[in-house]
Amino acid sequence: MNIGILGLGTVGGGVVNVLKKNREEIARRTGAKLQITHAAVRNVNQRRICSTEGITLTQEPFEVVNNDTIDVVLELIGGTTLAKDLVEVAIKNGKHVITANKALIATHGSELLALAKDNNTQLLFEAAVAGGIPILKSLEQGLSANRIEMVAGIINGTGNFILTEMRDKARDFDSVLKEAQKLGYAESDPTFDIEGIDAAHKLTILAAIAFGCELNFSQVSTQGISQVSSEDIAFATELGYSIKHLGIAKKEDGEIQMRVHPTLIPKRHLLANVDGVMNAVLVKGNALGSTLYYGAGAGDEATASAVIADVVDIIKDTASHDVLGWQSFESSTFKNQDDIESIFYLRLLASDKPSVLADITTILANYNISVEAVVQKQVDEQNNAHIAIITNVIKTRDINAAVEIIQSKDFIQEQIKIIHVETL
Ligand code: NDP
Ligand code: HSE
Repeated sequence: MNIGILGLGTVGGGVVNVLKKNREEIARRTGAKLQITHAAVRNVNQRRICSTEGITLTQEPFEVVNNDTIDVVLELIGGTTLAKDLVEVAIKNGKHVITANKALIATHGSELLALAKDNNTQLLFEAAVAGGIPILKSLEQGLSANRIEMVAGIINGTGNFILTEMRDKARDFDSVLKEAQKLGYAESDPTFDIEGIDAAHKLTILAAIAFGCELNFSQVSTQGISQVSSEDIAFATELGYSIKHLGIAKKEDGEIQMRVHPTLIPKRHLLANVDGVMNAVLVKGNALGSTLYYGAGAGDEATASAVIADVVDIIKDTASHDVLGWQSFESSTFKNQDDIESIFYLRLLASDKPSVLADITTILANYNISVEAVVQKQVDEQNNAHIAIITNVIKTRDINAAVEIIQSKDFIQEQIKIIHVETL
């Protein structure tokens, strides 16, 4: 089998290295000899993490997708413009395509999968979600007897790496982000990682495979980690929680909700202990109950592991992403974001005057919001009290309304922070 690679950066380089390292093992599993014959890069003179011996390099990616000797194309360039054109041409030329590109699948996956079906080729993307963890294959194959009720996970390695380093080493946001970029974890535009767009792409794919619905990226409500401060991390720790950036997709009473946001999780929960670049996905099925899938969410060889597993599926003819693994889609309705119920963490900076805490709790009580826990730090030099509150389970609409009123009070000194709390 001849393989052409588009992009020989972190993931492409990892694929070359893993195929070299495990050549015999893969040949024993598949009975096939895999050869990377061609690779397209932006700059053929660039230093690489892999050897390019025996690989014809080109700066013209269309040469690869139009090359008749190539059976499988690995799209590892990223982005949704050139990558989309290349994938379309490869499929029309009858080639199987494997991609790690979640942005491409979440936004153009439906049309590309339809094109692949029309051309009798496979379009596979295990590496697009949670790096090396075989979560898509688990949902499609191992969990196929279940109605999936919820998928919740830490699905961005860069974000998790940043939050972990900030919490454990009190490092500042920017320096950790620079390190994540150096390690090859971050997207070419790292705001995708920080603002939750990358996680939203992955959640879109997870929800489609879990619930058998269309890819609906526009329905994901997305909040990034840039709003999480070291003060929130310290308060969360004191209250018995870790802050993680979670992607949550739930199907309840026929309605789907998809959201990506920083979340306080009880410290004892397994997800709260998933640190660094590691990812984990919790799946609740109505027969098996909860299962948790854990592993490296980014990085060269970890991601290559998932890419090559898709190549093996093609050779063994066990690939099943045809319409995302479903014979038919169910039409879906999406929950109004205001109706989503959650516990919330509030952080407030208030002047240290008598009855301030009582005023805050009275406003909350007017919306049927009770205070489950509260922590107040010693009053600072500006005579301000730093307060954190954990509420009961309430509707998003109610917490927003109550916070709007509290925010308008003259004793509030800065924007009130609202973060979801999940017990999962
Ligand atoms: P990199 O930036 O490390 O690599 C991109 C590669 O594409 C480079 O080799 C670059 O060439 C090449 N390239 C870019 N533009 C062109 C072009 N116009 N023509 C030819 N080649 C081009 O990205 P990653 O490997 O990190 O990511 C690739 C994909 O995998 C993305 O979709 C990403 O979201 C996804 N992904 C990444 C993971 C990770 O851990 N990094 C994990 C899971 C998925 P050159 O080297 O010459 O600059
Ligand atoms: N930038 C992504 C992350 C790469 O950090 O999770 C893996 O998809």
